Amino acid sequence: MNPLEEALKIKDQIIAWRRDFHQYPELKYEEERTSKIVEEHLKEWGYEVRRISTGVIGTIGEGDKMIALRADMDALPVQEENDVPYKSKIPGKMHACGHDAHTAMLLGAAKIIAEHKEELNGKVRVIFQPAEEGGNGAKVMIKGGALEGVNAIFGIHVWSELPSGVIGIREGPFLAGAGEFHVKIKGKGGHGASPHETVDPIVVASQAVLAFQTIVSRNVEPIKPAVVSVGAIHAGTAFNVIPEEAEMKGTYRFFEPEIGKLIEKRIDEILSGITKAYHADYKLNIVELTPPTINHSKMAQFVKDVAQRYSIGTVSEVSLTMGAEDFSFYLQKVPGAFVALGIKNKAKGIIYPHHHPKFNVDEDILHLGTALEVALAFEFLRL
Ligand code: NI
Repeated sequence: MNPLEEALKIKDQIIAWRRDFHQYPELKYEEERTSKIVEEHLKEWGYEVRRISTGVIGTIGEGDKMIALRADMDALPVQEENDVPYKSKIPGKMHACGHDAHTAMLLGAAKIIAEHKEELNGKVRVIFQPAEEGGNGAKVMIKGGALEGVNAIFGIHVWSELPSGVIGIREGPFLAGAGEFHVKIKGKGGHGASPHETVDPIVVASQAVLAFQTIVSRNVEPIKPAVVSVGAIHAGTAFNVIPEEAEMKGTYRFFEPEIGKLIEKRIDEILSGITKAYHADYKLNIVELTPPTINHSKMAQFVKDVAQRYSIGTVSEVSLTMGAEDFSFYLQKVPGAFVALGIKNKAKGIIYPHHHPKFNVDEDILHLGTALEVALAFEFLRL
Protein backbone atom coordinates (compact mmCIF):
# COMPACT_ATOMS: atom_id res chain seq x y z
CA MET A 1 0.00 0.00 0.00
CA ASN A 2 1.37 3.39 -0.99
CA PRO A 3 -0.08 6.14 1.26
CA LEU A 4 0.45 8.90 -1.31
CA GLU A 5 -1.31 6.96 -4.09
CA GLU A 6 -4.18 6.05 -1.78
CA ALA A 7 -4.57 9.67 -0.66
CA LEU A 8 -4.48 10.90 -4.27
CA LYS A 9 -7.37 8.56 -5.08
CA ILE A 10 -9.60 10.37 -2.57
CA LYS A 11 -8.21 13.87 -3.10
CA ASP A 12 -11.58 15.22 -4.35
CA GLN A 13 -13.40 13.67 -1.42
CA ILE A 14 -11.01 15.34 1.05
CA ILE A 15 -11.58 18.71 -0.63
CA ALA A 16 -15.37 18.17 -0.64
CA TRP A 17 -15.33 17.41 3.09
CA ARG A 18 -13.20 20.48 3.75
CA ARG A 19 -15.59 22.71 1.79
CA ASP A 20 -18.59 21.31 3.61
CA PHE A 21 -17.02 21.97 7.03
CA HIS A 22 -15.92 25.37 5.78
CA GLN A 23 -19.49 26.40 4.96
CA TYR A 24 -20.77 25.42 8.40
CA PRO A 25 -18.16 26.61 10.90
CA GLU A 26 -18.81 25.93 14.58
CA LEU A 27 -17.13 27.69 17.51
CA LYS A 28 -15.45 25.97 20.45
CA TYR A 29 -17.61 23.36 22.19
CA GLU A 30 -20.39 23.88 19.63
CA GLU A 31 -19.01 21.38 17.09
CA GLU A 32 -22.24 19.35 16.95
CA ARG A 33 -22.68 19.15 13.19
CA THR A 34 -19.02 18.54 12.44
CA SER A 35 -18.62 15.86 15.10
CA LYS A 36 -21.80 14.11 13.98
CA ILE A 37 -20.52 13.84 10.40
CA VAL A 38 -17.19 12.53 11.67
CA GLU A 39 -18.89 10.04 14.00
CA GLU A 40 -21.13 8.65 11.26
CA HIS A 41 -18.22 8.10 8.89
CA LEU A 42 -16.07 6.45 11.52
CA LYS A 43 -18.88 4.05 12.45
CA GLU A 44 -19.51 3.25 8.80
CA TRP A 45 -15.82 2.41 8.34
CA GLY A 46 -15.75 0.04 11.32
CA TYR A 47 -14.20 2.20 14.03
CA GLU A 48 -15.09 1.72 17.66
CA VAL A 49 -16.41 5.21 18.35
CA ARG A 50 -16.73 7.19 21.54
CA ARG A 51 -17.84 10.77 22.08
CA ILE A 52 -16.04 13.02 24.54
CA SER A 53 -17.73 16.41 24.93
CA THR A 54 -18.23 17.69 21.36
CA GLY A 55 -15.25 15.59 20.30
CA VAL A 56 -15.07 12.08 18.85
CA ILE A 57 -12.48 9.34 19.12
CA GLY A 58 -12.37 6.27 16.92
CA THR A 59 -10.22 3.18 17.37
CA ILE A 60 -9.44 0.46 14.84
CA GLY A 61 -7.11 -2.54 14.61
CA GLU A 62 -5.83 -5.14 17.03
CA GLY A 63 -2.76 -5.50 19.20
CA ASP A 64 -0.99 -3.85 22.10
CA LYS A 65 0.61 -0.95 20.32
CA MET A 66 -1.41 2.13 19.49
CA ILE A 67 -0.73 5.35 17.60
CA ALA A 68 -3.02 8.36 17.84
CA LEU A 69 -3.63 10.94 15.12
CA ARG A 70 -5.33 14.19 16.07
CA ALA A 71 -7.34 16.88 14.28
CA ASP A 72 -9.12 19.89 15.76
CA MET A 73 -12.58 20.88 14.51
CA ASP A 74 -13.45 24.35 15.81
CA ALA A 75 -13.78 27.63 13.92
CA LEU A 76 -13.32 31.27 14.92
CA PRO A 77 -15.59 34.27 15.50
CA VAL A 78 -14.38 35.94 12.28
CA GLN A 79 -16.51 37.24 9.39
CA GLU A 80 -15.22 35.64 6.21
CA GLU A 81 -14.14 38.00 3.42
CA ASN A 82 -13.20 35.40 0.82
CA ASP A 83 -15.24 35.34 -2.34
CA VAL A 84 -15.41 31.60 -2.92
CA PRO A 85 -18.32 29.26 -3.70
CA TYR A 86 -17.81 27.47 -0.38
CA LYS A 87 -17.78 30.67 1.70
CA SER A 88 -19.01 30.39 5.31
CA LYS A 89 -22.80 30.40 5.50
CA ILE A 90 -22.75 31.38 9.17
CA PRO A 91 -22.43 35.14 9.77
CA GLY A 92 -19.55 36.04 12.06
CA LYS A 93 -18.05 32.56 12.07
CA MET A 94 -15.29 31.23 9.89
CA HIS A 95 -12.72 28.45 9.63
CA ALA A 96 -9.92 31.02 9.64
CA CYS A 97 -7.28 28.70 11.07
CA GLY A 98 -7.72 25.69 8.78
CA HIS A 99 -9.24 23.27 11.26
CA ASP A 100 -11.77 22.37 8.53
CA ALA A 101 -8.78 21.10 6.54
CA HIS A 102 -7.43 19.20 9.55
CA THR A 103 -10.76 17.43 10.04
CA ALA A 104 -11.01 16.58 6.32
CA MET A 105 -7.42 15.31 6.10
CA LEU A 106 -7.82 13.05 9.12
CA LEU A 107 -11.17 11.76 7.86
CA GLY A 108 -9.38 10.81 4.64
CA ALA A 109 -6.65 9.05 6.62
CA ALA A 110 -9.24 7.24 8.75
CA LYS A 111 -10.93 5.96 5.59
CA ILE A 112 -7.69 4.67 4.04
CA ILE A 113 -6.55 3.10 7.32
CA ALA A 114 -9.91 1.30 7.65
CA GLU A 115 -9.66 -0.03 4.11
CA HIS A 116 -6.26 -1.52 4.96
CA LYS A 117 -6.85 -2.54 8.54
CA GLU A 118 -5.73 -6.12 7.87
CA GLU A 119 -2.23 -4.74 7.25
CA LEU A 120 -2.06 -2.89 10.57
CA ASN A 121 0.40 -4.14 13.21
CA GLY A 122 -1.59 -2.66 16.06
CA LYS A 123 -4.24 -0.06 16.72
CA VAL A 124 -4.87 3.40 15.36
CA ARG A 125 -6.87 5.97 17.27
CA VAL A 126 -8.16 9.05 15.52
CA ILE A 127 -8.90 11.97 17.82
CA PHE A 128 -11.22 14.71 16.55
CA GLN A 129 -11.11 17.28 19.30
CA PRO A 130 -13.19 20.36 19.99
CA ALA A 131 -12.16 23.81 21.14
CA GLU A 132 -8.51 24.23 20.22
CA GLU A 133 -9.04 27.99 19.95
CA GLY A 134 -8.80 29.13 23.55
CA GLY A 135 -10.84 26.25 24.93
CA ASN A 136 -8.08 23.75 25.71
CA GLY A 137 -10.21 21.01 24.15
CA ALA A 138 -7.19 18.69 24.25
CA LYS A 139 -7.36 18.70 28.04
CA VAL A 140 -11.00 17.64 27.92
CA MET A 141 -10.18 14.81 25.50
CA ILE A 142 -7.32 13.56 27.70
CA LYS A 143 -9.54 13.66 30.77
CA GLY A 144 -12.13 11.69 28.82
CA GLY A 145 -9.59 8.95 28.12
CA ALA A 146 -8.48 9.79 24.56
CA LEU A 147 -4.86 8.85 25.34
CA GLU A 148 -5.56 5.60 27.20
CA GLY A 149 -3.37 2.89 25.69
CA VAL A 150 -1.74 5.33 23.26
CA ASN A 151 2.04 5.00 22.68
CA ALA A 152 2.60 8.03 20.45
CA ILE A 153 0.62 10.91 18.99
CA PHE A 154 0.93 13.05 15.88
CA GLY A 155 -0.97 16.07 14.65
CA ILE A 156 -0.78 18.26 11.56
CA HIS A 157 -1.53 21.96 11.26
CA VAL A 158 -1.82 23.71 7.90
CA TRP A 159 0.75 26.51 7.90
CA SER A 160 0.38 29.84 6.09
CA GLU A 161 4.03 30.72 6.53
CA LEU A 162 5.25 27.76 4.50
CA PRO A 163 4.83 27.29 0.74
CA SER A 164 2.32 24.73 -0.45
CA GLY A 165 3.40 21.15 -0.01
CA VAL A 166 6.22 21.76 2.44
CA ILE A 167 6.21 19.47 5.46
CA GLY A 168 7.63 21.61 8.28
CA ILE A 169 9.18 19.73 11.16
CA ARG A 170 11.04 20.86 14.26
CA GLU A 171 12.69 18.91 17.03
CA GLY A 172 12.12 20.28 20.52
CA PRO A 173 10.17 23.52 21.13
CA PHE A 174 7.88 24.52 18.25
CA LEU A 175 4.96 26.63 19.56
CA ALA A 176 4.99 28.84 22.63
CA GLY A 177 3.27 28.39 25.94
CA ALA A 178 0.47 30.90 26.46
CA GLY A 179 -1.30 32.40 29.41
CA GLU A 180 -4.15 34.84 29.69
CA PHE A 181 -4.38 37.52 32.38
CA HIS A 182 -7.39 39.51 33.52
CA VAL A 183 -6.91 42.58 35.69
CA LYS A 184 -9.41 44.68 37.56
CA ILE A 185 -8.16 48.02 38.89
CA LYS A 186 -10.41 49.41 41.57
CA GLY A 187 -10.23 53.16 42.13
CA LYS A 188 -12.70 55.73 43.40
CA GLY A 189 -15.08 57.34 40.95
CA GLY A 190 -16.13 60.96 40.81
CA HIS A 191 -16.55 64.09 38.72
CA GLY A 192 -14.10 64.60 35.90
CA ALA A 193 -13.66 68.18 37.08
CA SER A 194 -12.63 67.11 40.59
CA PRO A 195 -9.94 64.49 40.04
CA HIS A 196 -8.36 65.29 43.41
CA GLU A 197 -11.37 63.67 45.10
CA THR A 198 -11.03 60.44 43.12
CA VAL A 199 -8.61 57.57 42.54
CA ASP A 200 -8.57 57.42 38.76
CA PRO A 201 -8.36 53.77 37.64
CA ILE A 202 -7.71 54.83 34.03
CA VAL A 203 -4.46 56.57 34.99
CA VAL A 204 -3.44 53.55 37.09
CA ALA A 205 -4.25 51.07 34.28
CA SER A 206 -2.30 53.20 31.80
CA GLN A 207 0.76 53.14 34.06
CA ALA A 208 0.43 49.38 34.41
CA VAL A 209 0.23 48.81 30.64
CA LEU A 210 3.43 50.81 30.13
CA ALA A 211 5.20 49.09 33.01
CA PHE A 212 4.28 45.64 31.59
CA GLN A 213 6.45 46.52 28.59
CA THR A 214 9.50 46.31 30.82
CA ILE A 215 8.89 42.65 31.69
CA VAL A 216 10.22 41.40 28.35
CA SER A 217 12.69 44.24 27.83
CA ARG A 218 14.12 44.34 31.38
CA ASN A 219 13.31 41.13 33.25
CA VAL A 220 13.47 38.28 30.74
CA GLU A 221 16.93 37.24 29.56
CA PRO A 222 17.33 38.81 26.09
CA ILE A 223 18.11 35.55 24.29
CA LYS A 224 14.89 33.93 25.54
CA PRO A 225 11.72 34.60 23.54
CA ALA A 226 8.75 36.06 25.44
CA VAL A 227 5.73 38.28 24.79
CA VAL A 228 3.44 40.31 27.03
CA SER A 229 0.53 41.99 25.21
CA VAL A 230 -2.48 43.80 26.63
CA GLY A 231 -5.27 43.18 24.14
CA ALA A 232 -8.23 44.87 25.76
CA ILE A 233 -8.77 47.74 28.15
CA HIS A 234 -12.17 48.97 29.27
CA ALA A 235 -13.22 51.71 31.66
CA GLY A 236 -15.77 54.45 31.97
CA THR A 237 -18.90 55.49 30.11
CA ALA A 238 -18.96 59.30 30.03
CA PHE A 239 -16.50 62.04 29.04
CA ASN A 240 -16.76 63.87 32.37
CA VAL A 241 -16.94 61.00 34.84
CA ILE A 242 -13.98 59.27 36.43
CA PRO A 243 -15.07 55.63 36.72
CA GLU A 244 -14.75 53.31 39.71
CA GLU A 245 -12.99 50.53 37.84
CA ALA A 246 -10.84 49.73 34.87
CA GLU A 247 -10.48 46.27 33.40
CA MET A 248 -7.86 44.89 31.11
CA LYS A 249 -6.86 41.55 29.70
CA GLY A 250 -3.90 40.27 27.79
CA THR A 251 -1.74 37.35 26.83
CA TYR A 252 1.80 36.29 27.57
CA ARG A 253 3.94 33.78 25.69
CA PHE A 254 7.09 31.85 26.51
CA PHE A 255 8.97 28.64 25.79
CA GLU A 256 10.42 27.83 29.19
CA PRO A 257 8.05 27.28 32.11
CA GLU A 258 10.35 29.38 34.38
CA ILE A 259 9.93 32.33 32.02
CA GLY A 260 6.15 31.91 32.21
CA LYS A 261 6.39 31.95 36.01
CA LEU A 262 8.65 35.03 35.92
CA ILE A 263 6.16 36.91 33.73
CA GLU A 264 3.27 36.03 36.05
CA LYS A 265 5.28 37.17 39.07
CA ARG A 266 6.26 40.47 37.45
CA ILE A 267 2.69 41.25 36.33
CA ASP A 268 1.59 40.80 39.93
CA GLU A 269 4.48 42.82 41.38
CA ILE A 270 3.93 45.69 38.96
CA LEU A 271 0.22 45.82 39.72
CA SER A 272 0.90 45.67 43.43
CA GLY A 273 3.45 48.49 43.32
CA ILE A 274 1.57 50.80 41.00
CA THR A 275 -1.80 50.44 42.73
CA LYS A 276 -0.12 51.03 46.07
CA ALA A 277 1.49 54.21 44.79
CA TYR A 278 -1.86 55.55 43.55
CA HIS A 279 -4.05 54.29 46.42
CA ALA A 280 -5.96 51.91 44.18
CA ASP A 281 -6.65 48.17 44.51
CA TYR A 282 -6.37 45.37 42.00
CA LYS A 283 -7.45 41.85 41.29
CA LEU A 284 -5.35 39.65 39.01
CA ASN A 285 -6.60 36.46 37.47
CA ILE A 286 -4.38 34.17 35.39
CA VAL A 287 -6.48 31.78 33.31
CA GLU A 288 -6.35 29.10 30.65
CA LEU A 289 -2.69 28.30 30.51
CA THR A 290 -1.48 26.29 27.53
CA PRO A 291 2.02 24.81 27.90
CA PRO A 292 4.65 25.14 25.15
CA THR A 293 4.43 22.55 22.35
CA ILE A 294 7.65 20.58 22.55
CA ASN A 295 8.21 17.90 19.92
CA HIS A 296 10.02 14.76 21.01
CA SER A 297 13.25 14.64 19.03
CA LYS A 298 12.98 10.98 18.03
CA MET A 299 9.38 11.38 16.93
CA ALA A 300 10.15 14.52 14.89
CA GLN A 301 13.00 12.61 13.24
CA PHE A 302 10.61 9.72 12.58
CA VAL A 303 8.15 12.05 10.81
CA LYS A 304 10.99 13.38 8.65
CA ASP A 305 12.11 9.86 7.72
CA VAL A 306 8.60 8.68 6.88
CA ALA A 307 7.78 11.76 4.76
CA GLN A 308 11.01 11.34 2.82
CA ARG A 309 10.67 7.56 2.42
CA TYR A 310 7.23 7.96 0.83
CA SER A 311 8.05 11.19 -1.05
CA ILE A 312 5.29 13.05 0.75
CA GLY A 313 5.84 16.78 0.15
CA THR A 314 9.17 18.50 0.70
CA VAL A 315 10.60 18.22 4.18
CA SER A 316 11.92 21.40 5.73
CA GLU A 317 12.48 22.90 9.17
CA VAL A 318 9.65 25.11 10.40
CA SER A 319 10.44 28.24 12.46
CA LEU A 320 9.61 28.69 16.12
CA THR A 321 6.40 30.62 16.62
CA MET A 322 4.91 32.54 19.55
CA GLY A 323 1.52 31.13 18.60
CA ALA A 324 0.24 28.43 20.94
CA GLU A 325 -1.42 25.04 20.46
CA ASP A 326 -3.20 22.82 22.92
CA PHE A 327 -1.57 19.80 21.23
CA SER A 328 1.04 20.52 23.91
CA PHE A 329 -1.19 18.77 26.47
CA TYR A 330 -0.95 15.49 24.55
CA LEU A 331 2.82 15.83 24.24
CA GLN A 332 3.07 16.21 28.01
CA LYS A 333 1.55 12.72 28.34
CA VAL A 334 2.93 10.70 25.41
CA PRO A 335 5.79 11.09 22.91
CA GLY A 336 4.92 12.56 19.56
CA ALA A 337 5.29 15.48 17.21
CA PHE A 338 3.24 18.35 15.82
CA VAL A 339 3.85 18.94 12.13
CA ALA A 340 3.25 21.96 9.89
CA LEU A 341 1.91 21.54 6.36
CA GLY A 342 2.61 24.50 4.06
CA ILE A 343 -0.47 25.94 2.30
CA LYS A 344 0.75 29.32 1.04
CA ASN A 345 0.31 29.75 -2.70
CA LYS A 346 0.95 33.23 -4.12
CA ALA A 347 -0.29 32.31 -7.61
CA LYS A 348 -3.68 31.41 -6.13
CA GLY A 349 -3.78 34.48 -3.86
CA ILE A 350 -3.51 32.28 -0.78
CA ILE A 351 -1.24 34.58 1.19
CA TYR A 352 -3.16 35.63 4.30
CA PRO A 353 -2.13 34.63 7.81
CA HIS A 354 -4.13 32.41 10.16
CA HIS A 355 -7.17 34.07 11.79
CA HIS A 356 -7.38 36.65 8.94
CA PRO A 357 -10.83 37.14 7.28
CA LYS A 358 -9.19 36.20 3.97
CA PHE A 359 -7.29 33.17 5.27
CA ASN A 360 -7.54 30.21 2.94
CA VAL A 361 -5.71 26.96 2.27
CA ASP A 362 -4.30 25.52 -0.93
CA GLU A 363 -6.63 22.55 -1.20
CA ASP A 364 -4.47 20.85 -3.81
CA ILE A 365 -2.03 19.68 -1.16
CA LEU A 366 -4.45 18.46 1.49
CA HIS A 367 -3.99 14.87 0.34
CA LEU A 368 -0.34 15.19 1.46
CA GLY A 369 -1.56 15.61 5.03
CA THR A 370 -3.75 12.55 4.67
CA ALA A 371 -0.89 10.55 3.12
CA LEU A 372 1.48 11.54 5.93
CA GLU A 373 -1.03 10.52 8.60
CA VAL A 374 -1.57 7.13 6.94
CA ALA A 375 2.17 6.57 6.52
CA LEU A 376 2.89 7.53 10.14
CA ALA A 377 0.23 5.10 11.38
CA PHE A 378 1.51 2.09 9.44
CA GLU A 379 5.20 2.87 9.98
CA PHE A 380 4.89 3.55 13.70
CA LEU A 381 3.11 0.26 14.29
CA ARG A 382 5.87 -1.49 12.38
CA LEU A 383 8.65 -0.04 14.61
NI1 NI B 1 -5.19 26.39 14.58
